[in-house]
Amino acid sequence: MERNSRWPGFYKLSIEERRQVAAEALGISVSDMQQALEGGLQSERADKIIENVVGTFSLPFALALNVTVNGSDYIAPMVVEEPSVVAAASNAARMIRGGGGFEADADDPVMTAQVQLDEVPDPVAACERLRGHSGELCALGDAQVPGLLRRGGGVRGIEVRDLGDGMVVVHFFVDCRDAMGANLVNTVAEGVATRIQELSGGEIGLRILSNLCDRRKVRVRARVPAASLAGNGFDGARVRDGIVKASRFAERDPYRATTHNKGLMNGLDAVVIATGNDWRAVESGVHAYAARDGQYRPLCVWRGEGDDLVGELELPLSLGIVGGPSRVHDGARMGLRIVGVESATELAMVAASVGMASNLAALRALATEGIQRGHMALHARSVAIAAGATGAEVERVASTIHGKGDINLAAAEQALSALRGGREQVVAPPPGE
Ligand code: HMG
Repeated sequence: MERNSRWPGFYKLSIEERRQVAAEALGISVSDMQQALEGGLQSERADKIIENVVGTFSLPFALALNVTVNGSDYIAPMVVEEPSVVAAASNAARMIRGGGGFEADADDPVMTAQVQLDEVPDPVAACERLRGHSGELCALGDAQVPGLLRRGGGVRGIEVRDLGDGMVVVHFFVDCRDAMGANLVNTVAEGVATRIQELSGGEIGLRILSNLCDRRKVRVRARVPAASLAGNGFDGARVRDGIVKASRFAERDPYRATTHNKGLMNGLDAVVIATGNDWRAVESGVHAYAARDGQYRPLCVWRGEGDDLVGELELPLSLGIVGGPSRVHDGARMGLRIVGVESATELAMVAASVGMASNLAALRALATEGIQRGHMALHARSVAIAAGATGAEVERVASTIHGKGDINLAAAEQALSALRGGREQVVAPPPGE
C-alpha cells in the first residue's frame, strides 16, 4: 500500500484519535494497536526473556511523521523518554521532504565474526596457511548456518590479521540477510574455531561477533532548500549558514561532535528500540566508527550548496526485522508493522534518516533561537507531572510555567497548588508561540 506520512496537526489529536488516524492509514486495526502498545509485554513473558524479572518497564511509543526515503513515505515508530525528540524529528523531516526527501543506500547486511588465536608459534606462516584455506573455511562457516544459507545469506569471505606477540585474529564476513545477526555470527565463530586452531597451531581465544560492523554501513543524503529552514524571525539563508558553521564546529571539536551525535542518536535509537533492536550494539558500533581515525567526529555533516543545505550521514548499523525481541515483544512487532519495511537494510535506511532529521532539527534550533524554547515548552509537561499534576492539570500547569519562562519543579508545584486552590494565574506564553 502506498503510504503518505504527511499528517499535519496529528500531534494535536488525543491518543484515541491518533490511533484511529494511524490505524486507518496503516491498515492495522485500532484494537491490535491498542493491545500491542499498552504495555507490549506481560511480566510472565518478560520472565522468559531475561533473568530475575520482577516486572516490566514502559516508555512512550510515538510516531515520527513526514519521513520520505528514496521516494517512499514511512511512518517511523519511536520509543524515547525525552520530550521534543519526536516533534523535532517530524519537524525536520518535513523540511527535508520539501527538498525531495532523504536519499539513502545501505551495504549488504554483512557482520564480522572474530576468532582469536593466541600463542601462535609462527604467526606469519599461520596467516598464510589460513589465507590459503579460505575457501575451505568459508564452506565450514556456511555449514554452521544452513537456515541462513537457504535465505540467501552466508559467509562472504575471511580476513586474517596478525595483531603481534603471537596473536592472530580471523574475521569471517557473514551476510545475515534480515537478521541483526549476533547469534548467527557467533555460531559461525564457534563452529570454525577447531579447524582454525589446527591450521594455525595457536590456542583458541574468543569467538564472537564484532559490533564495529563497518561492512554494514548506511548512507543518507538530504537537500533542504534554504527557504524551508526559515522561521522564528530567521531567514532561510542565515539558518543554513548557521547549520553549516555548527557542522564545522563538530568536525573540529570532539566535545561538540559528541553532543552533535547525541542529537542524531535521539532519533536513531528511538527507532532502533521501537523495532525491538539491540541499541547497545548500535551505540557501540556507531561511536567506534565516529572515532575510527583517532579523533571522534560527527556522523552527519552539513554543507551549503548554492541556496540549499545538504546533509550527508554515514554510519554502521546492524538492525534486524526477524528474530530477537520481534518474536516475543508485541510492541516491537507493532513497531515493525507500522514502519512496514521489507528488509533489514530498508529499516536501517529509515532509522538513519530519522537520525539525520533529529540532528538537523537540533542544529536548526541551536543555530537560531537556541534549544530551550522548543524543547522546554514540551519538557514543561514532564515537569508538571513530576510536580504531581494529573489529567487536565498537566497542560495547565505546563502552560503556566512555560508562560512564566520558569520551567522547574518548584514553579510547577507552586502553579499546581495555585490551580488546586483556585488561584491559578493565567500567563500568556512568550511572544512568537
Ligand atoms: P515549531 O516551529 O514551534 O513547530 O517547532 P510548529 O508548530 O511550526 O510545527 C512544525 C512541525 O513540527 C509540525 O508539523 C510537526 O510535524 C512538528 P505539522 O504537524 O504542523 O505539519 N511538531 C510537533 N510534533 C509533535 N508534537 C508537537 C509538535 N510541535 C511541532 N508538540 C519544535 C517546535 C520542538 C519541533 C522545534 O522547536 C524543534 O525542532 N526543536 C528542536 C528540539 C530538539 O532537537 N530536541 C531534542 C532534544 S535536545 C537534545 O537532546 C540534543 C542536543 O543537545 C543536540 C545538539 O546539541 O546537537 C540539542
